Amino acid sequence: MAQETQRLIRLVNETLDFEKVRTNKVALVPEEFDASVMLHNLVTQLGKKAKANDDEVILKTPAKLMMYADQDRIVQILFNILQNAIQFTEHGQITVQGRETTTGIEFEIQDTGIGMTQAQIDQIWERFYKADPSRMRTQYGETGLGMSIVRHLVELHHGKVTVTSQPNQGTTVTVWIPKVDHN
Ligand SMILES: Nc1ncnc2c1ncn2[C@@H]1O[C@H](COP(=O)(O)OP(=O)(O)O)[C@@H](O)[C@H]1O
Ligand SMILES: [Mg+2]
Repeated sequence: MAQETQRLIRLVNETLDFEKVRTNKVALVPEEFDASVMLHNLVTQLGKKAKANDDEVILKTPAKLMMYADQDRIVQILFNILQNAIQFTEHGQITVQGRETTTGIEFEIQDTGIGMTQAQIDQIWERFYKADPSRMRTQYGETGLGMSIVRHLVELHHGKVTVTSQPNQGTTVTVWIPKVDHN
């Protein structure tokens, strides 16, 4: 019962957030920050969940990775993706990478989990979509809104998010955020 209440609270919060994002009511507040520090914090925050699933998380990022973007929103994007990677991977490996490219900053989250078919990949951006509803688990954000929020937030930054996956092999999600000239 308490778990069900938690689930409902989370669903309402996520839906509210989604409505704001969907109707473009989210105003980005860009700032300069070190994405490597952010990635270290994220991995630490989700460490317990990874451990519970017997997942090893490997972080590969430069000593410093400065970027100019809305930090809270970038955290929200990567948190959702990393949470999925852990949720759908048991006794596996998750590799989180951050790097600078000529055009911007790129993040890659790769897991060795259950993966998806192409048909499933094509649908993950739809709100409330879950490839397999029977896999629903209450300890995670499991409302099926995560990836639609991710896509909207990436698009607000004029970036790109791509997913490649193979059933039973794993999934790779790549997020690219363009450099902005803010001089
Ligand atoms: N890393 C992943 N590995 C396998 N399936 C995934 C992964 N990420 C997302 N999915 C699939 O896409 C669906 C939608 O993800 P998401 O929008 O985050 O919703 P939720 O996590 O709330 O189920 C998931 O339910 C799952 O079926
Ligand atoms: Mg999710």
